[in-house]
Amino acid sequence: MNSSPPTAHRPMRIAIPKGRMEKALHDYLKTTSLTIPSFADTRQLTLMTPDHRFEYILAKPSDVPTFVAYGGAEIGFAGLDSLREEAVDVLEPFMLPLGHCRLSLAGPPVWRSRSLHLTDRLRVGTKYTHIASTYFMAQGINAEIIKLNGSVELAPLTGLADLILDLVESGNTLKANGLVELHRVMDSQLTVTVNRSAYRLRAEEVNQYLQAIRP
Ligand code: PRP
Repeated sequence: MNSSPPTAHRPMRIAIPKGRMEKALHDYLKTTSLTIPSFADTRQLTLMTPDHRFEYILAKPSDVPTFVAYGGAEIGFAGLDSLREEAVDVLEPFMLPLGHCRLSLAGPPVWRSRSLHLTDRLRVGTKYTHIASTYFMAQGINAEIIKLNGSVELAPLTGLADLILDLVESGNTLKANGLVELHRVMDSQLTVTVNRSAYRLRAEEVNQYLQAIRP
C-alpha cells in the first residue's frame, strides 16, 4: 500500500501575487536557476513548467497567504502586510529584497496637530481591518474601522472617514490627493511563505526550491 500523502503526486504549486509585484518578482525569479513561466501574455491563472515539476498559480496578493495556509499552494510570495492581515498559520522562512513599503496612518494635514486619543470615535478607512483594529485597541484609541477594497485615499476626501490606514510606497498617491503620512504602523516587503504540512511531507522539494530562490 502506498502511504505517501496524495499531494506528493502532483507538482509543487507556487502562488504568485497578481498585479503590482508580479513583474518585479518574475524578474527576480528569472535570475535564479529555475524555469519561470510568465503570466504576462495569458489570461490563464495556472501555468506548468515544461518539466512538470512546478505549477505556478496567479492569485490576488491578499489571497496568497490563504492559498498557502490551506494547501492550495505549497509555497507563496506574499507581502508581510497581507500575511499579518490574514493572520494565517504559515511558515515564513525569509524575505526577498522586493516590495518594500509601509503600512501607515494617513489623512489631511490638519490631523498633524490633532490628538487621536482625544478624538471621539475616530473613523478610519482601510483594506486592513484586522491590523487596524489591533493597532487602535493597543493604542487605546476609540476608532470605527470602515472596510474598503481599494482607492482608500477617497475616504477622507469624501468625508467617509477621518483617516486611512494604507500602504505607502513612493508616497505619490498620498501627495497627489493632498494627504500626509501621520504614523508608520508597520514595514512590509515580499515574504516567502510555506505550507506547514508541505514543509514536513515534501521537505526535499520545498528546501530545494527555497535554496534556489534565496537572496
Ligand atoms: C496602493 C496603496 C496606495 C498606493 C501607494 O494602491 O493602496 O493607494 O498603492 O503607492 P505609492 O505610495 O507609491 O503612491 P494600489 O495601486 O495597489 O491600488 P488600490 O488603490 O486599488 O489598492
